[in-house]
Amino acid sequence: MEAGENIRIVLLAQGNNMAVYIAGTEVIEGDMRLGHMWHEVEAILDVLDYYQITHFIEIGVHEGGLTWILLNHFESLNYLGIDINLGIARAKVKNKVKSIRYAELIERDCFARETIEEVQEWMPDGKPCLIYCDNGNKPKEILFYAPIMRIGDILMAHDYHDGRRIVRGLEWYGFKTGGLQPEVCPEDVVFMYKMCEELEKVDLSDTRIIGFMRYNIE
Ligand SMILES: C[S@@+](CC[C@H](N)C(=O)[O-])C[C@H]1O[C@@H](n2cnc3c(N)ncnc32)[C@H](O)[C@@H]1O
Repeated sequence: MEAGENIRIVLLAQGNNMAVYIAGTEVIEGDMRLGHMWHEVEAILDVLDYYQITHFIEIGVHEGGLTWILLNHFESLNYLGIDINLGIARAKVKNKVKSIRYAELIERDCFARETIEEVQEWMPDGKPCLIYCDNGNKPKEILFYAPIMRIGDILMAHDYHDGRRIVRGLEWYGFKTGGLQPEVCPEDVVFMYKMCEELEKVDLSDTRIIGFMRYNIE
């Protein structure tokens, strides 16, 4: 068994024994919120594996639950996390990031011109980067960040709802799904199909995640 597989199994086992639940999220390491369900985390890890992603940009870090999993799962992942308020990010996540030379957390408004320029500078030539949109206004974030994708880069967004995707997991855990607000709708991503193809090698269809890979530059 690979080391990464081990972590994955531990995380999944933890997910089945959660004491604290927040709709649409899981809790890891006892009390660190993760803005995803386990099967969504699995899907993100699968995308990174399948497409051999070396550079991950997370827009919207919150407590750092996803950061924690990514950095523990992929030892050589280059990671850039952006949040307008890093005050909420857990100390252990910040320490983990500090301990990794190629990982960084920056406190910025993701919609500032300087921030997107900084992200562009961070994206090295010839390396596939994944931009993960998970801030407070995801449709706006997709619009803002899609133009900096180079051929082969991936952009994914959380909280996508096309009327068909089921938030699997919530019902397993006894949640009512009524309070969950989908944030990215199909009309918000129509423009993406002009320059990207939707990811299809990893099945995202039962997650709240949509993903695209850029194939041409207009
Ligand atoms: C849904 S949470 C992120 C969850 C995290 N990705 C995870 O999986 O655990 C959204 C985060 O986006 C941040 N945010 C909201 N508006 C932002 C902005 N304009 N720029 C950067 N971050 C922003 C919030 O502070 C919040 O921490």
